[in-house]
Amino acid sequence: MKEAIILKSPEEIKTMRRAGAIVAEVLALLKGKVKPGVTTLELEKIAEEETKKRKALPAFKGYKGYPYCLCTSINEQVVHGMPSKRALNEGDILSVDFGVRFEGFYGDSAITVPVGKVSKDAERLIRVTEESLGKAIEAARAGNRLYDISSAVQTHVESHGLSVVREFVGHGIGRELHEPPQVPNFGIPGQGVRLKVGMVLAIEPMINVGGWAIKVLGDGWTAVTADGSLSAHFEHTVAITEDGPLVLSAL
Ligand code: MF3
Ligand code: CO
Repeated sequence: MKEAIILKSPEEIKTMRRAGAIVAEVLALLKGKVKPGVTTLELEKIAEEETKKRKALPAFKGYKGYPYCLCTSINEQVVHGMPSKRALNEGDILSVDFGVRFEGFYGDSAITVPVGKVSKDAERLIRVTEESLGKAIEAARAGNRLYDISSAVQTHVESHGLSVVREFVGHGIGRELHEPPQVPNFGIPGQGVRLKVGMVLAIEPMINVGGWAIKVLGDGWTAVTADGSLSAHFEHTVAITEDGPLVLSAL
């Protein structure tokens, strides 16, 4: 049997909303700092300080030995890029993935940001990826099935000729960063477990301009597109409530 999905009470969802708001605040701050010449290690330092100020703990640092608060993935890097002394260049795209633990609960979110002026292809990739997350969130309703969320991403992305990464998926989230169920970004509508009030999901489309295949670099973390094409990533922590989807990782 698959591990059970842990439902959260309205009270617990309130706490998760506060965790999510902290994630959103820090990401908004970081977004404002993204410019040519800035290094991803500088962004990491800001994230670390701002997390501490808010009495939260970074969720990723120490997770399976990951050494940073942020994942910073540039251009063909899909996810789990590590902050470094590499300076951002005009025309790059940067995905920033960030999570915290606050009062025992996790929040997790990611954005992809253009560095200065970027190509039309890059702009479109970012736009379609963010739109696909919006469509997935709309499908996160009690009574729907899990893969209604997945297919919402896939349908939108593939209609624009982009491809959905298969090897990484979204996840349940709560007192653990990763809880059941896995939330793929591809799937058949009407399939998968039935969604219930109290489920909280981190929905995170990872989308490539070229093919969906990825590989992990020798550092053991950085995932890149196999064909070197650009990749984007957006993520929100979303609760399924009586009143529909509630984005916990919003400002
Ligand atoms: N948002 C990613 C996830 O949900 C971040 C995990 S990075 C890790 O899985 F370093 F913590 F693994
Ligand atoms: Co996540």
